[in-house]
Amino acid sequence: MKTHIHPPTEAGITAAARLLQDGQLVAFATETVYGLGADARNSAAVANIFAAKNRPRFNPLIVHVPDLAGAAELVEIPPQARALAEAFWPGPLTMVLPRCADAGLSDLVTAGLDTLAVRIPANPLARRLLAAAGVPVAAPSANPSGKISPTSAAHVEQGLGGRIAAILDGGRCDVGVESTILGFDGDTPVLLRAGGLAIETIEPLLPRPLSLPQAGRITAPGQMKSHYAPDAKMRLNVTEPTAGEVLLGFGARNGALNLSPAGDLREAAVNLFSYMRKIDDLATRSGKSIAVAPIPETGLGLAINDRLNRAAAPR
Ligand code: TXA
Ligand code: MG
Repeated sequence: MKTHIHPPTEAGITAAARLLQDGQLVAFATETVYGLGADARNSAAVANIFAAKNRPRFNPLIVHVPDLAGAAELVEIPPQARALAEAFWPGPLTMVLPRCADAGLSDLVTAGLDTLAVRIPANPLARRLLAAAGVPVAAPSANPSGKISPTSAAHVEQGLGGRIAAILDGGRCDVGVESTILGFDGDTPVLLRAGGLAIETIEPLLPRPLSLPQAGRITAPGQMKSHYAPDAKMRLNVTEPTAGEVLLGFGARNGALNLSPAGDLREAAVNLFSYMRKIDDLATRSGKSIAVAPIPETGLGLAINDRLNRAAAPR
């Protein structure tokens, strides 16, 4: 299959929306990372997402809608979630909520769970695509399962080109790491994945502090220990790289590449996945491994460190 790259024009959006309506796979830019979209009501289309990514079937998908009315057709939105939705949607927040049984979604989307992960992306191109398609769009990140998430159309093409119908090219992603995922254990909000919306921004709106997922309670089934895997080995929190390592720097600690010379975590998040790809190339070509400078564990640093920890995990 030849993968068509559509420009972010009216004609490009219309073509991409038609493909989604026809049950094809279309990757599209969001503010976090590129998503691999399919009509969430079409089981054959959703099955093709799992096939194209080689994703385990037990790992459920996020459904993307253009507005709150679209979300309310799919999930129950209790008051606490509604307050967060009003504050942070559209934006890099995904909420896991009780799903409406009669929403008509393919069972493959939720992998047997009675909850559904929903998100309204902020990227205007993504919202125009969702509105034009007029169907709820299931979309995981547009990378082969376990590999580095894509933040440009070129990344998507490298990983999935030839396996998907089209890519809607929205340029580079503004946030650069995936959405923050929140679930609810009764009334207790639970952080299922640190992401592009900092918890410091969310917490003032919550009646009680966010809890971390406890074993056996609600979890995100896709949070595998090893993920975002580069080809080269990776070592974290490195202040003194060895001769056999290339350094991915941060702030004053310079390396072959620097995620943010100014020490700005937002800039580091934007650069993270593309620099991981670049430094992996540098390392593998020179027979070296990757070292990463320490990143502060605040703000978007939580999401950055989470991705780096999974990238460095034993496989
Ligand atoms: O920013 C993002 O969230 C991107 C863009 C494309 O929207 N999407 C994304 O999807 O990162 P994915 O599939 O790579 O990660 C979704 C995560 C997985 O870890 C999955 O297990 C979890 O969300 N998830 C999905 N549905 C869930 C549910 N009902 N309960 C708990 N976790 C869920
Ligand atoms: Mg992913």
